[in-house]
Amino acid sequence: MKVLLFSCQPYDRASFVQAGTAFPALELHFSQAPLTASNAALAKGFAAICTFVNDPLDAATLQILHAGGTQVIALRCAGFNQVDLQAAQALGISIVRVPAYSPYAVAEHAVGLILALNRRLHRAFNRTREGDFSLHGLLGFDLHGKTCGVIGTGAIGLVFARIMQGFGCHVVACDPAPSAELQALNVSYTPLPELLACSDIVSLHCPLTEDTHHLINPTRLALMKPGAMLINTGRGALVDTQALIAALKCGQLGHVGLDVYEEEASLFFADHSDLPLQDDVLARLLTFPNVIITAHQAFFTQEAISAIADTTLNNLHDWQQGLPCNQVQG
Ligand code: NAI
Repeated sequence: MKVLLFSCQPYDRASFVQAGTAFPALELHFSQAPLTASNAALAKGFAAICTFVNDPLDAATLQILHAGGTQVIALRCAGFNQVDLQAAQALGISIVRVPAYSPYAVAEHAVGLILALNRRLHRAFNRTREGDFSLHGLLGFDLHGKTCGVIGTGAIGLVFARIMQGFGCHVVACDPAPSAELQALNVSYTPLPELLACSDIVSLHCPLTEDTHHLINPTRLALMKPGAMLINTGRGALVDTQALIAALKCGQLGHVGLDVYEEEASLFFADHSDLPLQDDVLARLLTFPNVIITAHQAFFTQEAISAIADTTLNNLHDWQQGLPCNQVQG
């Protein structure tokens, strides 16, 4: 089966070429360009395509893919909020995904953001390089004894909660499907308003759905402890970015770490450093000394990208054989 991989960076290509040796029946072709409605016709003749997290699979794009003979789309990610599942189902296109590759990768990145923000490592790094060895403005706090609120305790939130317990944090959580494992570890589940009110650090690990769009909005930000830290490694649109900026300006939020951003699709995963930044909201966020933004790199560990390639090709192999294949149900 011919497979065309969109949004394929050199590191993706390397991991897929390596994983592909175990799947000789899959003929892999690579495109660095993201998938859009205007280039979807490139997939004509490919029974399978493979896309990444910001490739929009809206009804118009799916129509073009279907007309070109695409029968299955393999997502190289866990989330599938970018897919119009109803349209895919109506066209008979199967969607398969990688439900879990390395929860450790994302959880550990969230913890990395917390440590860097708290101890101002980003500022200290620049300062010592300039010969400035002063400590003013670098005062942090002990994580030990603080309350950490985890929103979404699936695969990633579970690992994150366990790490934070290791620092001596009191972990509280909010999830419509509580984890028995975390409850056994004395993690208490509370409704969202209570979690926001008692947490020194809040970390988002739930999927983006209609219900969770702008989960963090002006009302919820006002419920948070003044000066609290917010970490988002979930999806950008879980947070109302304009409200985030307002909360940072008035000091309601003390620290913000983002690996995802609502409008990231046209910016992330590419080098725009030679061009003026056109996104004024992101530009404003980047001016705050107490904000760290990484460009959707939380998943990016050697273990995770190997697992993504292996699972994706296995999904396509199993789909061809009519076996269970991590299919997303519409
Ligand atoms: P998962 O499906 O194992 O867990 C998600 C959890 O969120 C579930 O327990 C679910 O019950 C809970 N949840 C759903 N709605 C909720 C709500 N309104 N409030 C609180 N909890 C809610 O997913 P996993 O693997 O832990 O991933 C979580 C999210 O992390 C993904 O949906 C994806 O958006 C994001 N992600 C980000 C990556 C990155 O590189 N930044 C990489 C991988 C995933």
